[in-house]
Amino acid sequence: TSAKLWGGRFTGAVDPLMDAFNASIHFDKRMYEADIRGSQAYAKALAKRGIITEQESTTLVTGLEKVLDEWRNNTFEIKPADEDIHTANERRLGEYVGSVAGKLHTGRSRNDQVATDLRIWTRDETRKLLGHLKQLIGAFVERAEKEVDVLMPGYTHLQRAQPIRWSHWLLSYAWSLQADALRLSQIIDRLNVLPLGSGALAGNPFNIDREFVAQELGFNGVIQNSLYGVSDRDFVAEVLFWASVTMVHISRLSEDLIIYSSGEFGFVTLADAYSTGSSLMPQKKNPDSCELLRGKSGRVFGQLSGFLMTYKGLPSTYNKDLQEDKEPLFDAVETLAGSLQITAGVISTLKIHPEKMQQNLSIDMLATDLAEYLVRKGVPFRETHHIAGAAVRIAEERNTTMSNLSLSDFKQLHVAFEEDVSAVWDFEKSIENRSSLGGTSRATVVAQIEKLRNWLLE
Ligand code: ARG
Repeated sequence: TSAKLWGGRFTGAVDPLMDAFNASIHFDKRMYEADIRGSQAYAKALAKRGIITEQESTTLVTGLEKVLDEWRNNTFEIKPADEDIHTANERRLGEYVGSVAGKLHTGRSRNDQVATDLRIWTRDETRKLLGHLKQLIGAFVERAEKEVDVLMPGYTHLQRAQPIRWSHWLLSYAWSLQADALRLSQIIDRLNVLPLGSGALAGNPFNIDREFVAQELGFNGVIQNSLYGVSDRDFVAEVLFWASVTMVHISRLSEDLIIYSSGEFGFVTLADAYSTGSSLMPQKKNPDSCELLRGKSGRVFGQLSGFLMTYKGLPSTYNKDLQEDKEPLFDAVETLAGSLQITAGVISTLKIHPEKMQQNLSIDMLATDLAEYLVRKGVPFRETHHIAGAAVRIAEERNTTMSNLSLSDFKQLHVAFEEDVSAVWDFEKSIENRSSLGGTSRATVVAQIEKLRNWLLE
């Protein structure tokens, strides 16, 4: 018979190519700790039901701790027959504790084992991502607080639209990322339930106390159906979707910064730490960090769609296709960990050029304010929009700005115009007028900073 863990009914050898094709150890080894913690909890649960003795349980638990130490010290030696992390750890445990290692897998299957390992790993790693995400939000909030007096042009269609505060732009990304943080917390709560005790598919025959196992492993509940327990990977899809949406935000931010750092805009300069030069053109300083962030977003979207293709159309319960859930997840988690930290670095070290932003504020951006001026004099907005449009046209025809039109020019457009129309040509005033909740006025920007700060402290 074959030497494999599952080799009892096999007589022929497996094609070595198939062996390599089937093996997942080279990527699932990163779940070594989750796998060992799961096994330790399971050993205790077996003893609790008298399936093994307390002494055997202790032997298994301490033996597993030694295996864990090897992984941590980088001394664990992967053998050719170690198909995946589960078989590798069990093989090594046997070398430490002898034949009692063979009792560990009683009533358990790699199907409920791998589902458990992956949930533990995902929970622990996404909690770290949540930490990185909060740090990034903190970087935005800190800048927004310091630079609240800087004004810049706001854009729609990448055309100059209305003046805004630089901090208002910064905070727009902080709010997107806060939504990502809330989404991730919910995903973590949902995925943190225990599949172990589902067996291969039909359930555990030894009346294992699953609530006990869940408590041991820090889960907040127990999956209620064993078929569902071994087949569900919705949490992988959810994390990949979360990662994708978060990367959309990072990618759009990067695009803004790439544009704002161009010579034509010149609003910001990236720190040297997050830029690179050209091998040919000595003058170049390229925003590579932002380009990589924008580029890596594509990679994460690919992991989401790739995984969904694997996941769809599987018949009930465990199928080996599910082994393909890990690499997309691992890659996305790694990409997000890097991207969130790099983005925080870019944001906190960026140099801004307020005078360049100011130079790009143009009087035509106050056309809406001109219309609003008349609204405050009682003229219906639809009329005022036309009148302000006419003022824009006249200024354009005369090759000047609206602020240079005379009071009689304005009086010709509407009788409600008075001397005080000259007060419209003030960018800061335009900004301060937008003081309803969520607007770009100083007070409403400061209120946003306060809200986000309080949330970060929660
Ligand atoms: N390496 C496998 C995976 O990642 C473990 C489960 C294998 N189970 C099985 N019955 N072949 O999904």
